[in-house]
Amino acid sequence: MAVAAVVFDLYGTILGIESMAAHVAAAGVDDPAAFVADWRRKQLEYTFLTTLAQAYRDFDELTALALDVTCAQRGAPLAAGAREDLVAAWQTMPAYDDVAPALRALVERNLPRAVLTNGTLASARAALRAAGVLDLLSAVLSVEAVRAFKPDPAVYALATARFACAPSEIVFVSSNPWDAWGAAQFGFRVAWCNRHGNAPEALTPAPAAELRGLDELAAFV
Ligand code: LAC
Repeated sequence: MAVAAVVFDLYGTILGIESMAAHVAAAGVDDPAAFVADWRRKQLEYTFLTTLAQAYRDFDELTALALDVTCAQRGAPLAAGAREDLVAAWQTMPAYDDVAPALRALVERNLPRAVLTNGTLASARAALRAAGVLDLLSAVLSVEAVRAFKPDPAVYALATARFACAPSEIVFVSSNPWDAWGAAQFGFRVAWCNRHGNAPEALTPAPAAELRGLDELAAFV
């Protein structure tokens, strides 16, 4: 089957969310890794809720609101200015070491490469630029265009519209198991990059492949 484009999730797949733990620790929060995991879970919960309720608010705003709840839940108040700094730090995450080599291998094969993200276009582009991988991409697609979050099919349809192809002609790569499921449900050929040793989703369809890292992507595409 021809591949029209390889499309990547952003946060957790290209950019390392774990790096946020250092920022959280610098803000004086205890148990920073667990805090970041709680923050991420609440952020995603808000994307699911606002999509179901058709009450879209952008990802930066939901990230800030999820931070507020996480602080309140854990009894960890932030100093003045720390809220803005922590939300802004989402634009400074490093790319995983296997990202640039995997993108360069696709460039060499002349395969279009895109990011499809819940993030706002401005924040996603800023983060990719800071991580040094923006220039290796052919397109950055944001859910802002449809005002709904993954796994709403309207989001995945942004990729088929951009590359004027059928879902089965898109290779989609995500480390988020729920995103891998949503993309497979839409009809993409999904490579689940299981960076964090997660259990697979019990929902079907299952991803076409499970990778340990993007160094294994070339064998799948
Ligand atoms: C994204 C989130 C889901 O980049 O990681 O879309």
